Amino acid sequence: MANVGKLQETGKGNVLIVDDDRNFSWGLCEALKDAGYKAASAVSSKDGFAKLSDSPVDVVLLDLKLGAEDGVDVLKRVKKEYPDVAVIMITAFGDIPQAVECMRNGAFNFITKTAHKEPELFFATVGNAIESSLSRRRDKLHRQELKRFYDTDDIVAGSEVMLELIRKAAKVAESPSSTVLVTGETGVGKELLARLIHERSSFKDGAFVALNCSALPENLLESELFGYEKGAFTDARTLKKGLFEVADRGTLFLDEIADMHLRLQAKLLRAIESKCFRRVGGTQDISVNTRIIAATNKDLRDEAEEGRFRLDLFYRLSVVPLEVPALRERMEDIGPLTEHFIKRFNRELGKNVRGSSPEAMQRLLTYDWPGNVRELRNVIERAMLLETDDVVLPGHLVLEPVRRGRPAPKEAPAPAGEEGAQTPAGPAAVRPEADTLTLVEAEKACILKALKLAGNNKTRAAQILGISRQTLRTKLKAYSEDAPGLDEEPEL
Ligand SMILES: Nc1ncnc2c1ncn2[C@@H]1O[C@H](COP(=O)(O)OP(=O)(O)OP(=O)(O)O)[C@@H](O)[C@H]1O
Ligand SMILES: [Mg+2]
Repeated sequence: MANVGKLQETGKGNVLIVDDDRNFSWGLCEALKDAGYKAASAVSSKDGFAKLSDSPVDVVLLDLKLGAEDGVDVLKRVKKEYPDVAVIMITAFGDIPQAVECMRNGAFNFITKTAHKEPELFFATVGNAIESSLSRRRDKLHRQELKRFYDTDDIVAGSEVMLELIRKAAKVAESPSSTVLVTGETGVGKELLARLIHERSSFKDGAFVALNCSALPENLLESELFGYEKGAFTDARTLKKGLFEVADRGTLFLDEIADMHLRLQAKLLRAIESKCFRRVGGTQDISVNTRIIAATNKDLRDEAEEGRFRLDLFYRLSVVPLEVPALRERMEDIGPLTEHFIKRFNRELGKNVRGSSPEAMQRLLTYDWPGNVRELRNVIERAMLLETDDVVLPGHLVLEPVRRGRPAPKEAPAPAGEEGAQTPAGPAAVRPEADTLTLVEAEKACILKALKLAGNNKTRAAQILGISRQTLRTKLKAYSEDAPGLDEEPEL
C-alpha cells in the first residue's frame, strides 16, 4: 500500500490505530506514514487511551473485535471523552451490520480488514475523517468565539444599581426552573442579562435560543416555537422541531413578548405550566425542561389592562422580574462602558485608541442616551472608525439632537454655568422645569444634580458640569444661604 501514499499528500493529520492484530496495524501505520500522516498504534484500549491522552489525535482506526473487548464500548468511550476525534471502525466482512450499528453510535465510517486492497478508498476515508474532526474543532472554536463576543462576564457595570441587578440575576440563574421577565428600554442590555442568567445556570451546556416575538406573523411564530409534524400544512414536508425543544435543558429567550398574539400567549402559558406541548399538527405531548426568559420594553400591566396581554401569563412570567434601568439613570456606568467599548473596537478595528478626552467624556455624561448602551456602543464605534486620533475627542462624537418629550432622567447632570454656552446641548430632560424656572434656578438645579451624581465631590461635579472648580465654589457660596454647607470643605 505504501506506493499509493502520495494520494493524500495534502490531507495530513494524526492517526491512531487500535487493533490487536499487530501485523495489520504495522502495515497500516507504515502506509500512513509514507503518505505523510503521523501514525501510531496500540494493541488494547488501555494502550489506546494512554496514547490519546498523551498526543494529539484526529482519527482513531478502531478494531471492532479488540481481543476480549467490545469495540462498540471502546467507541462509545472515545466519543464521550474525545468527541472531536473521528473514529473509523475496522471490521471483518461478516461484521458489516455491526459496523452500521457503530455509525449510529458516532463512528465516522468503517473499513474492512482488506482495506489495503483498495488504498484509494482507504485514504479517502481517512482524509474525510480528518476533515470532519477538524471542522468539528473549527465549529467549537467559532462557538467559543461567539460566546466570547457575548461573554456575559463582559457585562460592564460601575453603578450600584447594575451591580445589584447582576447579583440578583446570578442568584436567579441558580434555579433554572424559574421564569424571568426582563424589562427596560431598548438597548439597555436585556438580552445580555438573559445570557448571563443562562451562562451561570446548570443549563449552560444547553442551547440559548433567542426569538423575537414581534418579528413573525402569528402562524410562523407558532411553528417556530412549537415546531410542526410532517404534513401539518401544505409546506410542512418534513417534521420540524420547535425552539421549545431545541432549547430543552437550555434557555428560550422570548424577546418583545408584549407583541405575542393572544392565542399564542395562551399556548405559551400552557406549555410553561405543564412543561409539555404539542407540535402543530401533532397529537403527542412532548415534554421539555426549558427555562423561559421573556423581555419587553413595554409595561405588561398596562398591556394587560388594555386587553393586549394575558394577566395570567404576566404573573407566570414575572415570577422573577428584573428591571434594567435606562443608561441615563446610571451615568456612573458611562465611564466603564466607554473604556470597555474602546478596548473592544481597538481589537476589532485594529486601532490603538488610548481613551477619551475629559471634554469627550463630559459630552457623553451630558447626553441622555435614548438608545441606551447600544447607542453608546455605536457612538464609540463610529468615533473610532472614522477618526485617526489616538484619543476620542468631543468632535468625534455624533450624538442625536435632544428630542423633546423623552422620559425624564432621574440623575443626569447637565452643562451649566458660564461655560455652558460652549458645551454641547445636554438632555432636555435634565432641565425638566426649564420652561418655568428662571435661568439662575435652572442652573442651581443642575449644579445640585451634578453634585449628587458626583457623591458631593466638587472636583468631579465641576468636571461633569464643564466648569472650573473655582467657578463651582463661587456659585455654591452664592447658594449657601439656601443650602448651608454646600460650599464647605473638606470634600466628601
Ligand atoms: N452592561 C453592558 N456591558 C457591556 N455591553 C452592554 C451592556 N449592556 C448592553 N450592552 C451592549 O449593548 C448592546 C445592546 O444590548 P442588548 O441587545 O442586550 O439590549 P436589549 O435591551 O436587549 O435591546 P432591545 O430592547 O433593543 O432588544 C449589545 O451590543 C450589548 O452587548
Ligand atoms: Mg434585545
